[in-house]
Amino acid sequence: MATKKKNTNVSKKQVDLDTNREDGADQFLTTNHGVRINDNQNSLKAGERGPTLLEDFIMREKITHFDHERIPERIVHARGSGAHGVFQVYESMAKVTKAKFLQDPKRETPVFVRFSTVAGFRGSTDLARDVRGFAVKFYTDEGNFDLVGNNMPVFFIQDAVKFPDLIHAVKPEPHNEMPQAASAHDTFWDFISLMPESAHMIMWVMSDRALPRSYRMMEGFGVHTFRFLNEQNKSTFVKFHWKPLLGVHSVAWDEAQNISGKDADFHRRDLWEAIESGVFPEWELGVQLVKESDEHKFEFDLLDPTKLIPEELVPVQRIGKLTLNRNPDNFFAETEQVAYHVGHVVPGIDFSNDPLLQGRLFSYLDTQLKRLGGPNFHEIPINRPVAPVHNNQRDGHMRQTINTGRVSYEPNSIGGGCPFQAAMADGGFNSFEERIDAKKVRQRSPSFHDHFSQATLFYNSQSDSEQRHIVNALRFELGKVEIPDIRVRMLGILSQVSKDLAEQVAEGLGIPVPAKPEQPMNQSFGADTDPKSVQPKKVRSSLESSAALSMKNTVKNTIKSRKVAALIADGFDGKHLEAMKKALMAEGAMLKTVAPRNGVIKTADGKAVAADFSLLTAASVLFDAVYIPGGAASIETLADSADACHFVDEAYKHCKAICATGDTTEFLESTYAGEADDDDEAVIIAANPGKVAAAFITAIANHRNWDREVERKIPA
Ligand code: HEM
Repeated sequence: MATKKKNTNVSKKQVDLDTNREDGADQFLTTNHGVRINDNQNSLKAGERGPTLLEDFIMREKITHFDHERIPERIVHARGSGAHGVFQVYESMAKVTKAKFLQDPKRETPVFVRFSTVAGFRGSTDLARDVRGFAVKFYTDEGNFDLVGNNMPVFFIQDAVKFPDLIHAVKPEPHNEMPQAASAHDTFWDFISLMPESAHMIMWVMSDRALPRSYRMMEGFGVHTFRFLNEQNKSTFVKFHWKPLLGVHSVAWDEAQNISGKDADFHRRDLWEAIESGVFPEWELGVQLVKESDEHKFEFDLLDPTKLIPEELVPVQRIGKLTLNRNPDNFFAETEQVAYHVGHVVPGIDFSNDPLLQGRLFSYLDTQLKRLGGPNFHEIPINRPVAPVHNNQRDGHMRQTINTGRVSYEPNSIGGGCPFQAAMADGGFNSFEERIDAKKVRQRSPSFHDHFSQATLFYNSQSDSEQRHIVNALRFELGKVEIPDIRVRMLGILSQVSKDLAEQVAEGLGIPVPAKPEQPMNQSFGADTDPKSVQPKKVRSSLESSAALSMKNTVKNTIKSRKVAALIADGFDGKHLEAMKKALMAEGAMLKTVAPRNGVIKTADGKAVAADFSLLTAASVLFDAVYIPGGAASIETLADSADACHFVDEAYKHCKAICATGDTTEFLESTYAGEADDDDEAVIIAANPGKVAAAFITAIANHRNWDREVERKIPA
């Protein structure tokens, strides 16, 4: 008999989904039309060795359904993982927005969140260097609000008309469909090197932000400037942020490439396991609010999606909390079929004229019509709102709603005029009345022409190790580019962000930085526009750097949900392991044992401990830190094991915390950790765990000792 773990997190949306949940436990197997199946092993044949009969309606139904199991994957963000949760506002935001879910701190709004990568196909690795999608569907009582954001606050392009070009350039090249889920190829950098407006986003994508340690440890951003509208329809500009309570952390590029081989589902598994084990991921919703009258007070344009508002200029107010507390029951039904759309807003939230946002408003519904096969995908359980739906839209593929009555038009008298329009006082959506008095043009505002100031601001705000990683990422990516002119052109762009950056990248590529960047760039001709006037310009930013842009300044006081590997072999010190496990678990971390083989491993005093993994089935890149308890026989075995030495060397190379207690010298001396500098606070060696557990916990919370990588002498 099948048993199912009961998830007790029941929101209004979960109750709604219950009508569609199916569980075959203790039930007969049936056809899709409810007929009980007597034989699911044999098709109907004319004699036991005869031909299969067309009459076999059971087999035909089963195979037909199977034949149609795949639907088109998303053109972008195909690879993703989702989870249910709830959102609660801390205090009423009624002053700036009439959106009801942002008014009552007691109101729990159900959400469904999907994280994703952009470029790869549906089966691609989670650890690609890429932007991550961070899409949140709020099932509010006034209808669905989708905040369809990314883990980076800016975007590559300023106008949606360039989106197909950008995506064609980054996707695998069309002639040979390579490389998968990677931007390190000619077409991407060809496009980017001709699009200076992408410079700021390129800094983000080449930074460690593109390699999150976990979905649970990345920020989210709505990117565009939106509007809040209050009861008086007064508008306030708003930028949305998600701030993870675990802080913002990333893995190293070498580690990311290894993880892709060892566990391509690394982020998916991490999210799933965290929720299953009750360590619910949490983010605070932040807003940056700008008064309508302050629209033009910045040195950049609020409508330009390649710009952020530095937190020094407008602080982020944390207004509520998102908690993910339930995994989907069925990946396809929920995570695959969910359809987000920036155009799903509720009264109190409205759009700005950001030309990227305006294009998105068209794109999402259009693409979902194809991906989900028709106009009724809003009826799919994961997409349907908890707010009631009444209108005169009818029919179409797979219609679920059985509309009753004669009336499917408005105005009508036969139906008593129903369903009727809602006045604003009754929650009717009303767009912000923005005054527009303009010529119809294809032009970009000169306020969009500064492409470099914020790229420079971002680079200057990074710590030494973060800057080093950007240089190395660019050397890697451009090193994979085959056409020399593209590299040169790209160096020209980088030289306008930072001479120092361009020179370091150039050194790695073995070519000089060009004396003058290629001109003209990003050329467009309006009816009476001189092409020179749209050349990128650099405005001197009033800010030298912004602390919020560096992950060095993120939360580093928790090890909640971090995974620590304990390397053990027969004869290890069981008491040390127990003591360390207790200390780590008290802080919310997990300790898993990794041994030369699976099965039972004996402690020095003969107790049996089950190995969670063998050195074959685990790898250091799947853990945050390594612990080595003493025990003479265990240490001798580990010292003789090339895999165990590699495990520690690799963790050391990736700058992770390593702790050894008892006499571990023989093993440590076989590894590079044994040669750690005395001032390396993330390599902790002591006689017993009681003395150093606290130091180990601090080192794990600090995430990495990036200084260690400078010498680059670890061959692992
Ligand atoms: C600020 C810029 C953008 C952000 C933050 C963004 C974010 C996202 C996210 C998070 C998803 C995945 C949603 C999911 O998990 O199902 C997505 C999908 C998609 N985006 Fe964007 N996007 C941006 C720009 C654009 C633009 C400019 C276009 C087109 C003009 C576009 C077209 C699409 C399409 C077609 C999908 C697939 C939707 C589906 O099949 O359900 N995006 N985007």
